Order: sequence, then structure tokens, then C-alpha cells
Amino acid sequence: MPPFRNFKEGSDLLASARKALDWQNLGFEYTKTDYRFSAVYENGSWSEGELLTSEMIQIHEGAPALHYAQQCFEGLKAQTAKDGRVLLFRPELNAQRMQNTAERLSMPAVPEELFIKGVMQAVSANQAWIPPYGSGASLYIRPLLIGVGENMGLKPAKRYEFRVIVSPVGPYYKSGGLSLISLAVSDFDRAAPHGTGDIKAGANYPGGLYATRKAKELGANEALYLDAAEHRYLEEAGSANILVSMAGNKLVTPKSAAILPSVTRRSIMTIAAEDLGMETEERAIDLRKEVGSFEEVAACGTAAVLSPVGKIWFDDHWHHFYANGEEVGPIMQKLYDLLCQLQSGEREDKYGWTREVAL
Ligand SMILES: Cc1ncc(COP(=O)(O)O)c(C=O)c1O
Repeated sequence: MPPFRNFKEGSDLLASARKALDWQNLGFEYTKTDYRFSAVYENGSWSEGELLTSEMIQIHEGAPALHYAQQCFEGLKAQTAKDGRVLLFRPELNAQRMQNTAERLSMPAVPEELFIKGVMQAVSANQAWIPPYGSGASLYIRPLLIGVGENMGLKPAKRYEFRVIVSPVGPYYKSGGLSLISLAVSDFDRAAPHGTGDIKAGANYPGGLYATRKAKELGANEALYLDAAEHRYLEEAGSANILVSMAGNKLVTPKSAAILPSVTRRSIMTIAAEDLGMETEERAIDLRKEVGSFEEVAACGTAAVLSPVGKIWFDDHWHHFYANGEEVGPIMQKLYDLLCQLQSGEREDKYGWTREVAL
């Protein structure tokens, strides 16, 4: 295991130790960092895990991850706070979600302690890559669980790798910051009602690449999916859950067994109720019937943070929201500010959601 280098001095990482990246202009792209955490499951138990320097994974040609997509992942972020601490946001929820996913895909659960250890070590060992406070960038953390080893028939792998890679990233949507995005309702389905939509299986995503391409042809940032049974109820965007504000200080989010239980969405719903005194509701939202009562709309997720949606394309035209889709509305602005202040340690964390990484 390589030595942990401690660059911490005063209230922030030594500026000279931090990589010289153009932090303000990073996209949501892979950048190779120095270390990745890897643990292996074999014969019924997990190895302790170690930090590796190579970004390559050598994998058997018979690996179930390659043939049958026996694979899943997670996504979370580390951010530099104003006082120099490096903070994670509710990583235990990602650990639990990966365990739910693993169960559904007949993979061994990664114990929560191993998940958190892998995340902490990958962030700490790559501290020179953590974007500075105020840059708008963060260190994206991507835990992966893959079925490796040899197999031919459709059965679970005997061997698994849990790997945590990190990469500094900027905003997910190119517009960046808190600017408006647009969504286009897809003709394609993302997930079946009793399928795998509520877990973070990699196999849920490649079908969406085509839907996203079609949405982009219409000028939208991303595809928006309706329920697969009736094409009537709002589900979610390609990589984000949906929030809708309505009259009467209400914040509504789709209830569906086929969408990913977003950590960001669950947190925003709590913030809306506790900090803004909003009435929050998780229920089926009938798009065509209810679109007239949508005041503000947003997509939310680790990558998207909270991205206000100015307009949605469906039934052959654009439907605009707050200020005719030209301005960010006050509710989404407030929710965005409150969430970001919490995640970056600018506001007292009364919920106990942030977790400091020991550097
Ligand atoms: C399909 C999907 N929905 C929602 C989300 C948002 O979830 P979270 O807030 O946990 O990042 C993601 C991203 O992780 C996603 O891939």
C-alpha cells in the first residue's frame, strides 16, 4: 500500500500539492488519478482491500460482468469545505443502496465498513486531485462491483471485485452552475414496473444512450421517462430524479417502484419540509393531467445536484414552467442553495449528513 501523503496545512491542502487543473472549467469527464481502491470476494469472504496505481482491470473473457451485465455501481462526491475539511454526503446511503442492488443481482453485499473504507482511502490517497473550495468542481467517487472470473452459463460469478475510482469533475450539464436545462419525454422505456429500475445496475443505462441521443436531437439536455405500463406517470430523467413545486407551497416527487431512490432527492425533500416548511409529497404524477399545475420543475442527483428544468417536450411541443422557462424559480433556487451550503459545510449540518474524510 502506498504511503498516505498528508498535504494538510492550516485550513486547506497545500496549494502547491494540488494538481494544476483548470478547476473552474472541468467537465463531467474521467481524469486518471493516482490511486484506486480494490477488494476481492472469493470463497465466501472479502479481502481487506488495497490501493492500486494501475487504472486497468485485467478481466477473464468469461466474466459474467461482460456477458450478463452482472455488475453495478454507485456515485457520490467529496467536496472541499470553506475551512479546508473534505466532506462526503451521506455515503452510508450509497453503501446501503449498493447492498440492495447486489442482493437483486445475486452478488455478494459489500459490507458498509468496507464500502466506506474504500471510499475514504480512494479520496485520501488522491487528495491532490480534490478541487478547491469555491471552484464549482468536486471529486466524483465511483464505486463499482463486478462479477469477474470465468463462467459460461447464466449463473452468478464465483469471484467479484469491488473497486472505487475517483475523478475531479465539473458540472454534469454543460451549461454549468444553476442554469436551466430542458428534458424531452422519451418514446422508450427505462425500466419495467417490477424490473431493476430501483437499483443501480449498469444494465439499466445503455438502453438510455439512444433515448438521450433522441432527446438531444430535439434540443433537450436529457430524456425524461414515463411509466412503462401506461406512459402516463412521470418517472425520472436518465440520471436524475424529478421534483415539481406546485401551488400551496408544495413539493411533489414521483412515487414509483421503477425509479432509483436518489440520495439527493431524499435529502431535498427533507430540507424542503424542515427548512422551508413546504408540504412534501411522494405520489404518482400524471404528466398530461397535471402539467398545468407545475410551477417549478427540477432534476436532481449527485451529478446533476439540483438542475432547474425550464421546459419539457412531449406531445409534439414544449411545455414551459416558471417565467416561461427563462428564469430559475425562487423555490428551486432556495433548495439548491440550502443543499449546496450543507454539502460544502457552509451551513450547520443539523441533520448529521456530512462525513469528514481524514486526510
Ligand atoms: C437513474 C438515476 N436516477 C437518479 C439518480 C440520482 O441519485 P443520487 O441522488 O443518489 O445520485 C441517478 C444518479 O445516481 C441515476 O443514475
